[in-house]
Amino acid sequence: MPKIFEAEDGSGVNACEICAAIYFRPALAIPINSFLDFFAQMKRPLRPLFSILVFTVLAVTLSLRILVHGGYFSSVELENKVVVREQLPVFNSTLLKYAAIDVGEEKDKQEIERLLEGNFDGPGRYRTFASWRKFHHDVRSKSSSSSSGIPLSLRSPMFYRYWLDFRRNLNDWARKKRFQADIMNDLVRLVKHVIDNHYGLNRLDRKYESCAVVGNSGILLNSNYGELIDSHEMVIRLNNARIERFEKHVGSKTSLSFVNSNILHLCARREGCFCHPYGGNVPVIMYICQPMHFLDYTRCNGSHKAPLIVTDPRFDMLCARIVKYYSLKLFVEEKGKSLEEWGSSHEGSLFHYSSGMQAVMLALGVCDKVSIFGFGKSASAKHHYHTNQKAELQLHDYEAEYAFYHDLVENQRAIPFLSDKFNLPPVVIYH
Ligand SMILES: *[C@@H]1O[C@H](CO)[C@@H](O)[C@H](O)[C@H]1NC(C)=O
Ligand SMILES: *[C@@H]1O[C@H](CO)[C@@H](O)[C@H](O)[C@H]1NC(C)=O
Repeated sequence: MPKIFEAEDGSGVNACEICAAIYFRPALAIPINSFLDFFAQMKRPLRPLFSILVFTVLAVTLSLRILVHGGYFSSVELENKVVVREQLPVFNSTLLKYAAIDVGEEKDKQEIERLLEGNFDGPGRYRTFASWRKFHHDVRSKSSSSSSGIPLSLRSPMFYRYWLDFRRNLNDWARKKRFQADIMNDLVRLVKHVIDNHYGLNRLDRKYESCAVVGNSGILLNSNYGELIDSHEMVIRLNNARIERFEKHVGSKTSLSFVNSNILHLCARREGCFCHPYGGNVPVIMYICQPMHFLDYTRCNGSHKAPLIVTDPRFDMLCARIVKYYSLKLFVEEKGKSLEEWGSSHEGSLFHYSSGMQAVMLALGVCDKVSIFGFGKSASAKHHYHTNQKAELQLHDYEAEYAFYHDLVENQRAIPFLSDKFNLPPVVIYH
């Protein structure tokens, strides 16, 4: 009995190889002489048929082996290539290491633990909690002891259900929070599928042909980009910036509204959680600024007709690292400062990427082509096209983000932390 079940190297038995062995080894093992005898004794009309059979068997065996081994070799080759590719852009490992440190991590963890335990003490937290409760008429707490946390209101079954949902949402989110470079490849599934479902489209794994990310910079005024923006398959707008009266410059189509959870928190005080300046049918996606905002999410998700998506915390983390890397790099290389000083001049644990940056990152993951409008500043332009806000927020480093956008257009290989398995689409910035 030939040992057909033993793989050649005694390990890693491959299903394909076993099939090939079972079916084809015995045939090859027949001594060639007896094979020729057998062939000679065969009835003449059967000979061609038999030859074809033998050749087919040989061909299949060979191609199976080529498949099995070819697959093996090409993955080795691939690994070599990856190594070579990784060597091309040289990232400064000190900067990478610093960029990967999440200064606020410990504080966040404690905050999340407190919330999961039902401890809402602390001024900011309690205000959110109270305003959340106010909208649930079943809770008529006149209690003065309410400042000690949730217990009183938990007696309401309706409130209790929200409380469980809140805990579940926050818990799921906190558990997923870790760095994962190839999360970019999941954005189609995590975000695009949800949006396509909502719009009744079934384009599953196709990305959007073209996306416009519309920032809110004053440079948009007098740009006349309205029509160009609307010609994109997908138009993403930021932080509920008004479009009425500005259509000529900013367009009027909105496929996705990108906000941060501070904005949802404000919306949550309104009747029905209204947060839809672009219409109730437009999906909203947001990142969570504070774990507490899951209260607003839990309350508003139910009352929104269009999807209300929370960005995946792994995606948040990737965005944070990229921006911090650029910020550190600028700080050290162009301003000549030391890494240790970075924290104190960037609000430490409050430092955060802007909504615009994350919206661009999202577009990179779900679009074949990305156009960026209304990002950047100029001495002659307002900070926002739709407000009179003067100053930029200190907790963002817009200069660092501009450097990132610049690399997106000119030098994509210089962008750190992205997985090799992810291909960035071409990007155009309209000034
Ligand atoms: C990396 O950056 C750090 C901090 O700026 C600097 O001290 C170090 O020399 C850099 N290393 C290399 C290899 O360029
Ligand atoms: C948000 O609401 C939608 C629609 O009602 C629901 O399908 C989804 O499960 C909710 N999400 C969470 C995390 O509760």
